[in-house]
Amino acid sequence: MTVPDRPARPKIIVTRELTDGVMQRMDELFEAQLNREDRALTRAELEAAVADTDVLVPTITDRIDADLIAKAGPRLKLIANFGVGVDHIDLHAARERRILVTNTPGVLTEDTADMTMALILSVPRRLGEGEKLIRGGAWDGWKPSGMLGHRVNGKTLGIVGMGRIGRAVARRAQGFGIRTIYHNRHRLPEGVEAELGARFVDLDTLFSQSDIISLNCPHTPETHHLVNANRLSQMRSDAYLVNTSRGEVIDEDALIAALQSGQIAGAGLDVYVNEPHVDARLLDLPNTVLLPHMGSATYEGRAAMGERVIANIRAWVDGIRPPDQVLEGWD
Ligand code: DGY
Repeated sequence: MTVPDRPARPKIIVTRELTDGVMQRMDELFEAQLNREDRALTRAELEAAVADTDVLVPTITDRIDADLIAKAGPRLKLIANFGVGVDHIDLHAARERRILVTNTPGVLTEDTADMTMALILSVPRRLGEGEKLIRGGAWDGWKPSGMLGHRVNGKTLGIVGMGRIGRAVARRAQGFGIRTIYHNRHRLPEGVEAELGARFVDLDTLFSQSDIISLNCPHTPETHHLVNANRLSQMRSDAYLVNTSRGEVIDEDALIAALQSGQIAGAGLDVYVNEPHVDARLLDLPNTVLLPHMGSATYEGRAAMGERVIANIRAWVDGIRPPDQVLEGWD
């Protein structure tokens, strides 16, 4: 079936290199302009792309702001983001131009939760420091007082954002004997709370009572700098902060000050305010474990994300609502 104003083989421009299987399928299904060089498009290239395509497939490394959307040609009808977070896309500007936006929820939940759990274990147990010790040739052998960290079993994890990823983290935490408290825009149904062993609390309680805090909320105007100097001052000096959501959820300067002064014990970060730049002060801090935004970086996850992008484009071509149409934010 063809829909009157929809090309059966739409032109799609994909801004980054994707996994081989996904690019091959896109080539078969669409008039695909793929980026075989593994680099982000320049602003000029992005402007040229939106001016002359039916579908744009961007990633988090592309800034799809109102200015760019204003330069979109009449053909552009769908921005099919490769990724779940859409804070790099001006949703309002897209809506004004009647351009649909889709993302790829669900398929990276488990991978991101795994990486969150890895940080929850790594920071209190000092995995980063231990690795550096060995690689630096500085390990002088086992000793009773060597590399002491904090036990995670029996501790309290505070999850901010109890969407798919937050819930998947809570599920994992149960297996490690960790108690979970959480805060979310909406409280979960009692049955889900019981299944996750998670208790709903306000943010003040979460920040003051948690041994480890994990940020699993989207970056929205409401969560921008949610972790600021005030929130950090509510944390205990032996508590840790883990962030696998977006750098902008934390006021990075305030976090660095809290880490430097010992106001909090440490942080595990996968995301930063100004990626790929990582503040040099973070690099100097021994009580941080720093990862290069790799929460969803598995072969399986990236292939599945590509399939979601394809499913969304195909739905649009068929004139039906794309399954992952984004209205505002994500969970
Ligand atoms: C996501 O899907 O949002 C990941 O953080 C990569 O963009």
